[in-house]
Amino acid sequence: MKDRTPTARVDQDLCVGCELCLATCPDRTFSMDQGKARVTGDRCLACEHCVAVCPTGAVTLGAAEPHALDFTTFTPINEWLPPGDYDLPGLVALMRSRRSCRNYLPDPVPRDQLEDLVKIGTTAPSGTNSQLWTFTILPDRQAVTALGDRIGVFFRKLNAMARKAWLRKLTKLLGKGELDQYYREHYQSVSEAMEQWETQGIDRLFHGAPAAMVVGSRPGASCPAEDALLASGQILLAAHAMGLGTCLIGYAVEAMDYDPGIKDFLGIPKSEAVHAVIVLGYPDEKYQRLTGRRQVTPRYFHPAPQESP
Ligand SMILES: Cc1cc2nc3c(=O)[nH]c(=O)nc-3n(C[C@H](O)[C@H](O)[C@H](O)COP(=O)(O)O)c2cc1C
Repeated sequence: MKDRTPTARVDQDLCVGCELCLATCPDRTFSMDQGKARVTGDRCLACEHCVAVCPTGAVTLGAAEPHALDFTTFTPINEWLPPGDYDLPGLVALMRSRRSCRNYLPDPVPRDQLEDLVKIGTTAPSGTNSQLWTFTILPDRQAVTALGDRIGVFFRKLNAMARKAWLRKLTKLLGKGELDQYYREHYQSVSEAMEQWETQGIDRLFHGAPAAMVVGSRPGASCPAEDALLASGQILLAAHAMGLGTCLIGYAVEAMDYDPGIKDFLGIPKSEAVHAVIVLGYPDEKYQRLTGRRQVTPRYFHPAPQESP
């Protein structure tokens, strides 16, 4: 568990007693004493909302690394944008324009771009502000194909098992229908993909991408998968803004779930979980138009009227 002992300090000379830190703090870490805010609670998320809200800079916390969000490939706007103070049409156009890219140019992705993307990933929210995500960068095509080959070993074994009708029946009888389901839904296309890779060098797993990123979590996070996937979402959008195409590769995550040796191969500690594999590179495709999504109809909840006693 993360240490939640408060480290916030309030400079009593600077504090103007506005109580904004009390109002914003999710952990009730502050209380008022003789018109000034003081740290009296015993828990703190280290979210730094108190630091962000203080009009005089009286609150300091020291939880965030000062250079953790120093970007090198672009000049950031280092000021807080109030709600509503952003180009919504532009943001939505970015969201709609990000598409999974399955055709890449061979050009390498500069490491500083990959590292900036990791930093952008860490701007995501995380359960109890744990920030226990991990990022493993595969910086070049050689690394990506090495992972592809290692994943191929797993799928070759899986396909050999799935081919056996008796084993599919037996595992199903034992209440484990996954092998049978895999056979029905994926066996054929995985077999074809492996054949194409071996005979023609066509990469249907990673789509020929020149870089990849594995997003995982260290133990102790309250919501490890959600944290990692939210970070991944930021990365996908920012990559598009940087001129990069991306694609999430669920097949690779699945393989790592079943075969921990793959994590080992990548130098990812056993204690870490993997939640997303993102391939990236400069896209070798261009779209002419936006396309839509399936219509969703939100459901509204209205509590039933209470009967008067
Ligand atoms: C969790 C997840 C796993 C995915 N796995 C794969 C994959 O293994 N291979 C692939 O080509 N695309 C994969 N995709 C991409 C989806 O096919 C894609 O997001 C979907 O078709 C919508 O298209 P868009 O991303 O271009 O909007 C995955 C997407 C998600 C969210």
